[in-house]
Amino acid sequence: MTVSKGRNVVVVGTQWGDEGKGKLVDWLTESAQGVVRFQGGHNAGHTLVINGVKTALHLIPSGIMRPGVKCYIGNGVVLSVGKLFEEIEGLEKAGVQVRDRLRVSEACPLILPFHQALDVAREAAREQGGVQKIGTTGKGIGPAYEDKIARRALRVQDLKHPERFASKLRELLNLHNHILVNVLGSKNFDFGAGLAPYMKDGEVQFDAVYAEAMRHAELLKPMIADVSRELNGVHAAGGNLLFEGAQGTLLDVDHGTYPYVTSSNCVAGNAAAGAGVGPGMLHYILGITKAYCTRVGGGPFPTELEWEKEGTPGWIMSTVGAEKGVTTGRSRRCGWFDAALLKRSAQINGLSGLCITKLDVLDGIEELQLCVGYELDGEKIDLLPLGADDIERCKPIYESIPGWTESTVGVTEYDKLPLNARRYLDRIAEVTGVPIAMVSTSPDRDHTILMQNPYQA
Ligand code: GDP
Ligand code: IMO
Ligand code: MG
Repeated sequence: MTVSKGRNVVVVGTQWGDEGKGKLVDWLTESAQGVVRFQGGHNAGHTLVINGVKTALHLIPSGIMRPGVKCYIGNGVVLSVGKLFEEIEGLEKAGVQVRDRLRVSEACPLILPFHQALDVAREAAREQGGVQKIGTTGKGIGPAYEDKIARRALRVQDLKHPERFASKLRELLNLHNHILVNVLGSKNFDFGAGLAPYMKDGEVQFDAVYAEAMRHAELLKPMIADVSRELNGVHAAGGNLLFEGAQGTLLDVDHGTYPYVTSSNCVAGNAAAGAGVGPGMLHYILGITKAYCTRVGGGPFPTELEWEKEGTPGWIMSTVGAEKGVTTGRSRRCGWFDAALLKRSAQINGLSGLCITKLDVLDGIEELQLCVGYELDGEKIDLLPLGADDIERCKPIYESIPGWTESTVGVTEYDKLPLNARRYLDRIAEVTGVPIAMVSTSPDRDHTILMQNPYQA
């Protein structure tokens, strides 16, 4: 593939995450010199399959498997340094060089053990109080973003100054321990083995957190960088950049199914703010879209199907699609493709093109249903409403499309897809008004159909 210089592509999930972003970022990295994560944290789980070997990434950009490509963790990411090094060590064991190719923004807010304790305790409190859980990944993402917005977060750059770090940490711990003990009743709470080394009587211990952070500081120092400056430098030199979104548009804190969302902006517009580049540098927005829908955790899902009953379309999606979370191992809920949802995503992200993934999972389903709109309060609407309360009341309006019996696994040319599979894809493009640029037909890197290369469009 020829590389056209100075083009930048943003990859975003258009549904509720797990659309296959990791696979496509790895594929597109063939044309990129730098890949950057701009939001979220290790709540993400991005899977790549290269020559039959599977790699799951949580924090490190999915460009890392291509030798020579630089990877960046932008300021918009909330960072657990411990989890980052677990991932680095795992990759190094598999023979992947990481440390000399990864740069971490000095402005990333840190995720520390008390963030995870707060996340876990809050979910438990919701459950005890009879309020539906958000169903978070329990990684401390929400509480870490709260500290950032409240202007009290410890950031990567604080790790370079032990005294400054210690005094800010004391202040933060006082606040959060007060909430843990007095509001959430953490004294009688079992936080599990992962948090046990940091906790005593329901409080997070200063010494344990501080000592570990200082160990992490030494490891991280060689990778700390002004990521904004480096990305702008790559661009100025004519290099191509790839912005890797995590989660999905419907999990976005402003535009998603609030409050059943994550705590960051997952949409394309945040690629600029979360990496430290100007919006004019985002040239092509590729929306990764599963050929059906899935969701992990709580919250509304208008086209949800029964997925536990053997032989049903939902069961096929769940089992053939291996719909289990990469980060938490939870089963993903499954349902029909929702074009009204995708229209909302297209609008919010300004999608240039779609990549439809997991088409092969639908092989053999006799008849497919495509949700083209909803009925809400007796009126027909064709765009997903904003917020969980209204979405909860939406009744999907379906259009039936005949399925196909042939296998699409591993197909790499559009014309070789069964006629009904092409009809299904064409209808998705027609209803949502966004052209299909790529189609993915298996987890493998090479099983990808290209109609329009985002780096050459
Ligand atoms: P991400 O979070 O968006 O990167 O997606 P995940 O990696 O969490 O989930 C997508 C899953 O589907 C992974 O297990 C991928 O290996 C797999 N996958 C990606 N594309 C395809 C495809 O076209 N067909 C099939 N069958 N699996 C795919
Ligand atoms: P990738 O990048 C799917 C979901 C959680 C929960 C909600 C809030 O692999 O697509 P959080 O821990 O972020 O506060 O949880 O968001 N969630 C994801 N669902 N894929 C993800 O990431 C997710 N990251 C968070 O299940 O419903
Ligand atoms: Mg995932």
